[in-house]
Amino acid sequence: MSVKEYLESQRVIIDATLDRLTPREETPPSTIHRAMRYSLFAGGKRVRPILCMEAARAVSDAPTGIEEAACALELIHTYSLIHDDLPALDNDDYRRGKLTCHKVFGEAMAILAGDALLTLAFEVLSALTMIDGDRRARLVKELARASGTLGGMIGGQVEDLEGEGKPAEAALLNTIHTAKTGALLRGSLRLGAIYGRAEMHQLSALSRYGEHVGLAFQIVDDVLDVEQTSEALGKTAGKDAEQEKITFPAVYGVEESKRMAESERQKAHAAVEMFGDRAKRLREMADLIVNRKA
Ligand code: IPE
Ligand code: IPE
Ligand code: MG
Ligand code: MG
Ligand code: MG
Repeated sequence: MSVKEYLESQRVIIDATLDRLTPREETPPSTIHRAMRYSLFAGGKRVRPILCMEAARAVSDAPTGIEEAACALELIHTYSLIHDDLPALDNDDYRRGKLTCHKVFGEAMAILAGDALLTLAFEVLSALTMIDGDRRARLVKELARASGTLGGMIGGQVEDLEGEGKPAEAALLNTIHTAKTGALLRGSLRLGAIYGRAEMHQLSALSRYGEHVGLAFQIVDDVLDVEQTSEALGKTAGKDAEQEKITFPAVYGVEESKRMAESERQKAHAAVEMFGDRAKRLREMADLIVNRKA
């Protein structure tokens, strides 16, 4: 199976699981359920849950039920996008090729839809049936850390916003990107590894892969914001420069940013060498993340 076909097959599993885990539109109060589902099923790439499932498969033969744990990552990610797009944050009208959640449902409902997806993510982890309570608690802690203020997604978002208009400087850039995007990507690998009962050295290797892929992911996101059209991205291009964000192209220029993403790709490959064939899809995903056009 080609990597494209494989990823499509994994997306189908994630979409079906998200559908099962999320309240139906008709269920009252239906406005919030419609808003949650609107953003959740707007066509995301599902990179984080798929990385999570691959990490579990790198260390375990049949990690039954992993797709539910993986969905918790997509619930958090979608919440972070809904809030990232709000007028008070990046103020974006388009996401995943559609109007943003607040444009369709209003700001109050978009804030609540984000809150609800965040809350649901932890309910999903707490309800996992195929693993013991100790691992469930570890997963909850990992996801909370990756999403939180101490080097996690929210911390990175704060520095991203406070960095607007400041001199684009390398150390701050690294802190922002490692936290706002890197932490949840790294967390995706760690959740999968923990679910699959990884040994310590395996967990560290998958974490390292996650750090490199996480950094590469945001470098590429920044480069695409400069080089691509809004149509191709499904979100407004050229916004980073307009909002004077601290980005890789702003600090290093586009060409050097591309070289840096390629170097992260190679480091990601090296990190999972010990898994041999079991990491084949992880290597392919690192390649796709760096070479993607949207
Ligand atoms: C976009 O993430 C936001 C960043 C963290 C760079 P993705 O590029 O994974 O967005 P979707 O989920 O495919 O829409
Ligand atoms: C967002 O980074 C990272 C999140 C935590 C959501 P960006 O602001 O660059 O993401 P896009 O470009 O709007 O998707
Ligand atoms: Mg942002
Ligand atoms: Mg944004
Ligand atoms: Mg961006």
